[in-house]
Amino acid sequence: MASLRTKPVVLVTGSGSGIGRATAVRFAELGYSCVVADIDEQSAKETLGMLQTPGIAVHVDVTMATSVEAMVTAAVQRFGRIDCAFNSAGIYGASARIVESPEDAFDRVMDVNVKGVWLCLKYEIAQMLQQEPVMSDPAKWADKPDVCRFRGVRGSIVNASSLAGLHSFPIISAPYCASKFAVLGLTQTAAMEYAKEGIRVNAVCPSIAATPMTYRNMEMAPPGSAERMASMHPAGRIAAPEEVAEAVCWLCSDACPFTTGEHLKIAGGN
Ligand SMILES: NC(=O)c1ccc[n+]([C@@H]2O[C@H](COP(=O)([O-])OP(=O)(O)OC[C@H]3O[C@@H](n4cnc5c(N)ncnc54)[C@H](O)[C@@H]3O)[C@@H](O)[C@H]2O)c1
Repeated sequence: MASLRTKPVVLVTGSGSGIGRATAVRFAELGYSCVVADIDEQSAKETLGMLQTPGIAVHVDVTMATSVEAMVTAAVQRFGRIDCAFNSAGIYGASARIVESPEDAFDRVMDVNVKGVWLCLKYEIAQMLQQEPVMSDPAKWADKPDVCRFRGVRGSIVNASSLAGLHSFPIISAPYCASKFAVLGLTQTAAMEYAKEGIRVNAVCPSIAATPMTYRNMEMAPPGSAERMASMHPAGRIAAPEEVAEAVCWLCSDACPFTTGEHLKIAGGN
């Protein structure tokens, strides 16, 4: 039996910076209580200071199972459940072609971007499976008994993939590209495994967004890279992190209860 939704709770990894921070801020504007998690605890605390709703800042290293488990435990101790999660923590790694790429840079990118997302899914889903399903608007479904027998939702998760998770393009390094393809594989598999239990798993595929990650890459790139990055987009510009945040909040929301295993491009026409 599904219960009625109270104020929802969201957990955002990598929310000390960039897309994760913008998404935590947007979730808070929408009334969500927020668990703001990052390996850089100080930056997570700064994000927490930007929020108007209840929240906690948590240190997490997404490459370590004990740390990810502790993050989920901290969220549940504070708020009792996790309705939504956005797994945004990620790194770009070395900006080099394959021959010049150091092996340890490959390992680190895979550790954070692939194992990190897998560990977050593992512990977030384990928690969501223990939760009672909730229904936001039962009246909306009252006259549609055949649409779905199970209408409550236990949780909704969004993973940060990338346009580079769908195809490579100039400036993208091979380990990063491969890691973001892998995020889509994790997303689709998790979505299939837990669809019947009322857990949705989707991904966002932004192209290039104006975040510290992008500006760090631009510093290492040849002059004129900013213009080249903008001109790669039919829209003629890169994205604001807030534009990615809006898409994440929509995917997590009750606006799309039958959408799972999907990826949403936020790519200015690419
Ligand atoms: N910026 C872009 O153009 C772009 C495009 C497509 C996809 N993405 C993806 O979106 C996500 C966010 O990117 P961003 O641009 O906001 O980057 P960012 O560097 O601004 O923020 C990433 C955050 O992740 C945290 N982090 C790194 N390693 C961690 C770890 N082991 N455990 C916990 N936290 C860790 C960092 O401390 C940082 O706060 C990443 O997964 C990135 O690959 C970014």
